[in-house]
Amino acid sequence: MRRDANPLLQNLLQTRLQQIAGRFGAVSPQLGAAMEHAAMSPGKRFRGMLLLLAADASGGVSDALVDAAAAIEMVHAASLIFDDMPCMDDAALRRGQPATHVAHGESRALLAGIALITEAMSVLAAARGASAQVRAGLVGILADALGPQGLCAGQDLDLHSDKDRPGVELEQDLKTGVLFVAGLEMLAVIEGYDEEERAQVVAFGRQLGRVFQSYDDLLDVIGTPESVGKTTGRDRQAPGPERGLLAVGDMHHVSRHYEASRAQLDAMLNHRRLRAPEIAALLERVLPYAVRDSA
Ligand code: IPE
Ligand code: IPE
Ligand code: MG
Ligand code: MG
Repeated sequence: MRRDANPLLQNLLQTRLQQIAGRFGAVSPQLGAAMEHAAMSPGKRFRGMLLLLAADASGGVSDALVDAAAAIEMVHAASLIFDDMPCMDDAALRRGQPATHVAHGESRALLAGIALITEAMSVLAAARGASAQVRAGLVGILADALGPQGLCAGQDLDLHSDKDRPGVELEQDLKTGVLFVAGLEMLAVIEGYDEEERAQVVAFGRQLGRVFQSYDDLLDVIGTPESVGKTTGRDRQAPGPERGLLAVGDMHHVSRHYEASRAQLDAMLNHRRLRAPEIAALLERVLPYAVRDSA
């Protein structure tokens, strides 16, 4: 993430992740190193920062919210470990460095992914300053987002199902949208949002998942390993059926679809819980309004 993305909040998230990572290697330093490789590598921290910026815009960031943001980033890092493995997208480069299975071996990468998820659950189960009821709510939200109705199902469909337009949209919701939605649901629980506010931020999270994954599908074609820091061309070349939106539409149509859904996302920022210049700026840095031929 670039330096203009609220360094104070970035620092808060990074410091908490570093604290948590301090326990990763307590029993097996090698397992800890693989976990750290995946979780502490220079990702955008987009999911965590979104939560912190939304909380900051309406009243301030609590310790529990920082824990939720850290947990979401750890689970996201785990999903990237699995996603890059030879049995999935078979990608060797992630965040500008060797993917975890390349650097630490497949067996350790697998265990590191599982351990990152269980550590994230532990962080939520002990979220600082939260009541027992809120903590249980946070764990339930994350479990639902990852399980057979969430990310695991989305990845399974992505890897194994024949593609049509509604199917790809469902995959976007499940493999990508669920983590945005889960983070925003955690925000709603921690901050005590009413039902209308919760529904609004959840709808925003779902739309964000679609926009984010659509642009990622475009980057898989128009990006280069140098510009995006990860192996490109995976949606067409990875083992199994073709993946992503470009399996069901050509470049022109997918680009126009992305631009239309990006504009809809912007309109959703009008809600009072999301109406903050820093949130709009975060989105603009990661999700441009128009698709260029190279990125
Ligand atoms: C990549 O997410 C995986 C997708 C859901 C497309 P990010 O683009 O947020 O990856 P990092 O965290 O910055 O590496
Ligand atoms: C992103 O899938 C979803 C998850 C990692 C769960 P992709 O395969 O499209 O993401 P990248 O392009 O490898 O980051
Ligand atoms: Mg994938
Ligand atoms: Mg991938």
